[in-house]
Amino acid sequence: MKIAVFVSGGGTNLQAIIDKIASGEIRNVEIAEVIASNNKAYAIERAKIAGIPSKVISKKELGDAYDEATLQELNGLGVDLVVLAGFLSMLGPKTVQAYANRIINIHPALIPSFCGQGMYGIRPHEAVLAKGVKVSGATVHFVNEHYDEGPIILQKAVDVLPDDTPETLQKRIMVECEQVILPKAIQLIADGKIEVVNNLVRVVQ
Ligand code: GAR
Repeated sequence: MKIAVFVSGGGTNLQAIIDKIASGEIRNVEIAEVIASNNKAYAIERAKIAGIPSKVISKKELGDAYDEATLQELNGLGVDLVVLAGFLSMLGPKTVQAYANRIINIHPALIPSFCGQGMYGIRPHEAVLAKGVKVSGATVHFVNEHYDEGPIILQKAVDVLPDDTPETLQKRIMVECEQVILPKAIQLIADGKIEVVNNLVRVVQ
């Protein structure tokens, strides 16, 4: 299965995918290209080090042409799956429709809590601590035209600890949740084990 990975920042989720392909934990999956929303993303370096082609497609620069440019790029690559791995922007409607149920996103909270527009990066963790909830985690879901609303594929939780800061919670969720369930979801899809029925995901055994 050929995938494109969209990134915006540090790229720890991208690195987890690269490492698990290299170690054989992810099988029959090839990253065709890493696509960054901006040229400052350290994830681009990670792609270079791993010998994976990368490209910047910037919504800021392209404006109205962004959606079409993304769609053409994906069609040209011939990818089976699009992975948003720390992608802090939103794909355009044509791309989302053309790749319905073939785009997945990792969100650093337990959807439907602490998600939606503006809830990205460190912010969900700040909101979790401000609310005082006792568990948080991460969610992998299919992408539709609304922020963080498509069918949920996998979730993993951790306890929120009394002395957590947004940064310690973010780190624990990245390592213990995101970097576990995103590679796992990719493998389930590569193995043909994910079905979407009535907007709900069923994992086929
Ligand atoms: C990750 O925590 C990811 O879940 C989050 O941004 C971080 C990027 O880290 N994504 C979102 O908030 C999307 N709404 P990374 O670049 O090191 O993978």
